[in-house]
Amino acid sequence: MKKLVLFAALIITTSPALPAMAAGDAVEPPKQDWSFSGPFGTYDRAALQRGLQVYRNVCAACHGLKRVYYRNLEALGYNEAQIKTIASEYTVQDGPSEEGEMFDRPGRPSDKFVSPYPNKAAAKYANNGAYPPDLSLITKARAGGADYIHGVLVGYEDAPEGTELLPGQYWNEYMPGHVIAMPAPLSDGLVAYEDGTPETVDQYALDVTHFLTWAAEPEMEHRKQMGIRVVLYLMVFTFILFLVKRKIWADVKKKKKA
Ligand code: HEC
Repeated sequence: MKKLVLFAALIITTSPALPAMAAGDAVEPPKQDWSFSGPFGTYDRAALQRGLQVYRNVCAACHGLKRVYYRNLEALGYNEAQIKTIASEYTVQDGPSEEGEMFDRPGRPSDKFVSPYPNKAAAKYANNGAYPPDLSLITKARAGGADYIHGVLVGYEDAPEGTELLPGQYWNEYMPGHVIAMPAPLSDGLVAYEDGTPETVDQYALDVTHFLTWAAEPEMEHRKQMGIRVVLYLMVFTFILFLVKRKIWADVKKKKKA
């Protein structure tokens, strides 16, 4: 009995429902139709490129992406020369030189994405005390994943009457607790797309979330392909075992009769 109670307590205390409750009145973000969902899902290269554009033009002012190397952008369909150009538009601190000095140089494909602030304190100081998290793993770090990130980006609304927001605080439908220290980063027409895709807040949010999902899980397509191959292999193997089993038992039955 004691064991049963302990077991129940363990289940209750480790239940994933609890943190969600503690987070307050979080609203479930609407489900989006992502091309990367499901066992056969893949990334959409055009969406990834547009998402990179949104990240670089908007989000990179406040958020780092320090787990991604410029050379990783090959997966988005860029060639070596294009990646070199993208990397060289950033300034990287390197060193020390032979004289012991740190120095600045243009970025190279082997560099990681340059973060906007030199350290956490500087990042907080520039954002009213709120820390803009590094976005490398954000789609995995937040419950709700891609749908949640998209939700936060489109979820800005006027605060309900009677709610007092401090300066630097904003109302967001999908942020747990609804109060967020990030000003609405997107507005219609903010980033110019070259492929005729609508330049709307919703589209920007979809594209940048697509890009951030890739950043957090660049190996996803490979993993899914591997999974499908393993399942196919197991099916063929099961069938062969079935044939072998029939063959062996056919002999056994024959002997029994004889
Ligand atoms: C002006 C600076 C600024 C810009 C530009 C900006 N953010 Fe933020 N962002 C912040 C700050 C500050 C926070 C921390 C908010 C908080 O903790 O309340 C934040 C938080 C977030 C979060 C985490 C929300 C959570 O659940 O805690 C995500 C996701 C995010 N930003 C994505 C983006 C994306 C994507 C873009 C580009 C479209 C972007 N941000 C542009 C400053 C910025």
